[in-house]
Amino acid sequence: MEGIYKTLPQHTYSWSQGRATFYKYQGFWNVQNFPEKTILAQSYQAQPSDILLCSCPKTGTTWLKALSFAILTREKFDHASASPLLTTLPHDCVLFLENHLAKIKENPSDLPLLATHLPYSSLPKSVIASNCKIVYIYRNIKDVLVSYYHFVRELVNLSVEDAPFEEAFDDFCQGISSFGPYWDHILEYWKASQERPDRFLFLKYEDLKKDASCNVKQLAEFLGCPFSVEEEKAGVLENIINLCSFDSLSNLEVNKSGMYQADEVSGVEHRLFFRKAKDGDWENYFTDEMKEKIDKLIDEKMSGTGLVL
Ligand code: A3P
Repeated sequence: MEGIYKTLPQHTYSWSQGRATFYKYQGFWNVQNFPEKTILAQSYQAQPSDILLCSCPKTGTTWLKALSFAILTREKFDHASASPLLTTLPHDCVLFLENHLAKIKENPSDLPLLATHLPYSSLPKSVIASNCKIVYIYRNIKDVLVSYYHFVRELVNLSVEDAPFEEAFDDFCQGISSFGPYWDHILEYWKASQERPDRFLFLKYEDLKKDASCNVKQLAEFLGCPFSVEEEKAGVLENIINLCSFDSLSNLEVNKSGMYQADEVSGVEHRLFFRKAKDGDWENYFTDEMKEKIDKLIDEKMSGTGLVL
């Protein structure tokens, strides 16, 4: 497998001082060891009852995992005092196919939830064949870019001064980011959703924030676990929204410390999954030219989809 890297297009973030090199594999960029992870994930045998939470990094994956987990386990745990989310990183409650296939196979969960950042075209064939449900979350591209910039910067331990945002911006606009091009990731899922609309739920991070009740109810229905009128009256929906809110999760001890093991070699501090969660943070980073450039790019790429990034 080592030899494959010599054949793949390659790009190193100059500001990462050699610590972030990306390879383009099956049409998408990612760090070394992703071809291996993808191939392994593709051996997963999906069941029709599986529900896959899909996303590009920094679009609200952690939030979607927490909400889906809380919705599906609401009868099992008293969310105020005993939810696993109070003591476990959401990424360890709902596992990524590409990171933890062995664990998934060893301990099959009674919960049908799995997550992946893999592009639609790289999903295991069994996911498509089984016709299982897919929830896809996406977010305003400018906020994703800023979120992603800080995430990578922190991963390679650089200060803002040592990691020029301009370069991160240029790379992202060329499509070079984890699981990028971001727009192609969205477009692949969107196109598939046009063919099987009943199997897909598209959620937008900003909408989820604006109207959590409506969106979480929609998510619960899609997951096959709608809230009853009694539950709503009893505040179950509200409790789940509160438990999974940024303020709540980011202040939990478990999410402020500890290390997420993406695989044997790479770890991510839990705190890095919780930064600011502010809409429009991009305005603090983008020049007018950057805004113009990315708006033009997105208009071109997303035209005809009705998706607003
Ligand atoms: P910011 O960097 O803009 O703060 P992902 O989970 O896909 O990696 O996305 C991470 C982004 O989601 C980060 O955005 C993070 O702060 C935000 N986030 C994490 N948990 C959240 C929550 N419970 N509610 C809203 N946003 C959340």
